[in-house]
Amino acid sequence: MHVPVMLGEALEALRIRVDGSYLDGTAGGGGHAAAIAERLGPAGRLLALDRDEAAVNRVRERLDRWATQVQVEQANYSEMEALALRLGFAQFDGVLLDLGISSFQLEPKRGFSFMSEAPLDMRMDRTQALTAADLVQQLEEAALADLFWRYGEEPASRRIARAIVAERTRAPITTTGQLAATVERAVGGRHGKLHPATRVFMALRLAVNQELEHLQAGLDAALRLLAPAGRLVVISFHSLEDRIVKHTLQAHAGRWENLPAGGRRWVGTQPTVQLVTRRPLTPTAEECERNPRARSAKLRAAEGVHTQTAS
Ligand SMILES: C[S@@+](CC[C@H](N)C(=O)[O-])C[C@H]1O[C@@H](n2cnc3c(N)ncnc32)[C@H](O)[C@@H]1O
Repeated sequence: MHVPVMLGEALEALRIRVDGSYLDGTAGGGGHAAAIAERLGPAGRLLALDRDEAAVNRVRERLDRWATQVQVEQANYSEMEALALRLGFAQFDGVLLDLGISSFQLEPKRGFSFMSEAPLDMRMDRTQALTAADLVQQLEEAALADLFWRYGEEPASRRIARAIVAERTRAPITTTGQLAATVERAVGGRHGKLHPATRVFMALRLAVNQELEHLQAGLDAALRLLAPAGRLVVISFHSLEDRIVKHTLQAHAGRWENLPAGGRRWVGTQPTVQLVTRRPLTPTAEECERNPRARSAKLRAAEGVHTQTAS
């Protein structure tokens, strides 16, 4: 099972209307989507997307009883605009993005985890050609180090990249176990609570799936598709993701800028939103206790505004 994170907070921030149109860009196990569908009346609509075929099949089955209101599609949420147009959605009263991977994707054979031996895969969308093994085998040492530093904030990025290149000249690194062992040797074993390969695995996952790039494109698209007073709600689990969400929402919320000649003007990226959460909401201690996956969650929300005040 995948337990939906910050479900109550997300539903409250979305302010679901029975006749509204909603988009869940990361349907996953369908927990948030089912809760949205449950609150819709006969005129309400929900478009649920996931780039992972297995998730789409699971969510289709789970949401089958709302088939007249709900449509489930395999798609990348960064392509939501073209899809919405094709399916006849002009705007959305709410868009939800619950980032990262679901508990289902942590099954050993998907290769996301260093806890079990499996091919080094990590693709959310298995029609994509590039896998984590390809990156580990093919990137030059400097590019590997840059990837671990940029996406994983890994302090030993250079040492790890050097060790990987040395190891792969002996034998190809194709499994989670081989990579985890190479990283562990490079950093001299375990220090502190984190497994030494945690940041490297995170960095590879973000890179293989181009998660940050899709997040930026998805946020931009969602803001363009938001109806006046519609709500965008994003739950992130990684500081790099949260930074993108925070900066994007702040840029669209605008700010007053003092002019050298006196007076001031409103500056902001179009379309304009107002922030629903000035600081991110975090899960309650009780939720973190019940569902440790929730611990790093941050929820931010913004609302589309009617009049465009930016200059
Ligand atoms: C944390 S899970 C979502 C869980 C879901 N809210 C629930 O309640 O079950 C994230 C899901 O987003 C999907 N995903 C991640 N990036 C995506 C993208 N760019 N486009 C579409 N789906 C994406 C993943 O495949 C995964 O199934």
